[in-house]
Amino acid sequence: MKSEEGLIFGVGKNQNQRGIVNSDNWRIANPDGKKRIIVTRDLPGDRWVDILVAAGCRVEIFTGTADLSPDEIRQRMGSRCDGVIGQLVEAWNESLFQALQGAGGKVYSNYAVGFNNIDLAAATRRGIAVGNTPGVLTGATAELAVALTLAAARRIGEAERYLRAGKWERWLPHLFLGTQLRGKTVGIIGAGRIGTAYARMMMEGHKTDIIYYSLHPKPALEELAAAYSRFLAARREPPVVCRRAEAVEDLLREADCVSIHTPLDDSTRHLINAERLALMKPDAVLVNTSRGAVIDEAALVDHCRRHPQFRAALDVYEDEPALVPGLADLENVVLVPHIGSATRWAREGMAILAACNVAGVLAGRPAWNRPDIDAFLEADPPPAAPSILNAEALNLPLFKATG
Ligand code: GLV
Ligand code: GLV
Repeated sequence: MKSEEGLIFGVGKNQNQRGIVNSDNWRIANPDGKKRIIVTRDLPGDRWVDILVAAGCRVEIFTGTADLSPDEIRQRMGSRCDGVIGQLVEAWNESLFQALQGAGGKVYSNYAVGFNNIDLAAATRRGIAVGNTPGVLTGATAELAVALTLAAARRIGEAERYLRAGKWERWLPHLFLGTQLRGKTVGIIGAGRIGTAYARMMMEGHKTDIIYYSLHPKPALEELAAAYSRFLAARREPPVVCRRAEAVEDLLREADCVSIHTPLDDSTRHLINAERLALMKPDAVLVNTSRGAVIDEAALVDHCRRHPQFRAALDVYEDEPALVPGLADLENVVLVPHIGSATRWAREGMAILAACNVAGVLAGRPAWNRPDIDAFLEADPPPAAPSILNAEALNLPLFKATG
């Protein structure tokens, strides 16, 4: 089979710029490119490859299904590798960055907004710029959080399993009673881009009040809620309220639904533990589309067991793809396999940003330092690297507007 792949794609002949597939599960685009880029998993769309090829890169893309081990990644980088686009399931630690530096590498981009898989300090020490892919996945992830919120509140998973199992015999007044969201209070933990987008969808779509917990106040979000309330008042509808919680405990006590949008770091690991779960309303909904380890998953299983009216909806897990024992047996839990950013637009956009990060750094372009990242998806992208996390630490020049 493997060698046939080579034949189908015409190795050595008919090769186009987007690549030929070798028998060893690697696709090479622009084999004669001067800079060598390793991409540890194939990405959606073509434009990201075109960007790297236009920047003079030879792009080596892993097309197999297994995860590459750190050793395999190290071997592939070999003695000459200018940049890497990697995945959130790979631990980019001191040893991988050391190998990348040893191969002459200058840049690594995560294919994700989250970067808890990266030892940023190690990369910085080794002079390697690290990119991520914010912005383009904000709407997709917020929409999934809304979908999970509704699925949990209205018991969609349970109801579907019941129907598919042939248990549905008749319409019943008490069948799968759930929670209506209108007028309820939604708690947002982490009011960054995704948290704010989710808050707006809930507030504007479902007329929920918002209580948010974040390090800094979010005046823009509060002003939006005030403006939306004026709009509602003009239509003689009740206003919505948006305010910041002093402490995460206050939010947990008050909210009917809590959605987590904080990055994972030492300060947020197991932020939601047994103690804090016990503060929540017994019939609350808890949604997580950020990183699994923000919740103590074993404590959540225990809590859901003891409170059948409580509902959780998870996209992310502590030890993906494994689930903590008991989680998958719970009826009051909705589970999906880390698909927050999984829309074609978002995933192609993430690939473009990752490619622009790598191409931008290698071309010595400045780091973009503005929120309007979508400019990179347009035909004529700005001459910058869209999102470099350690730009300041590395003293990279920042993009300046001309004119
Ligand atoms: C996905 O989880 C991401 O961080 O982009
Ligand atoms: C994602 O883009 C975030 O910063 O929340």
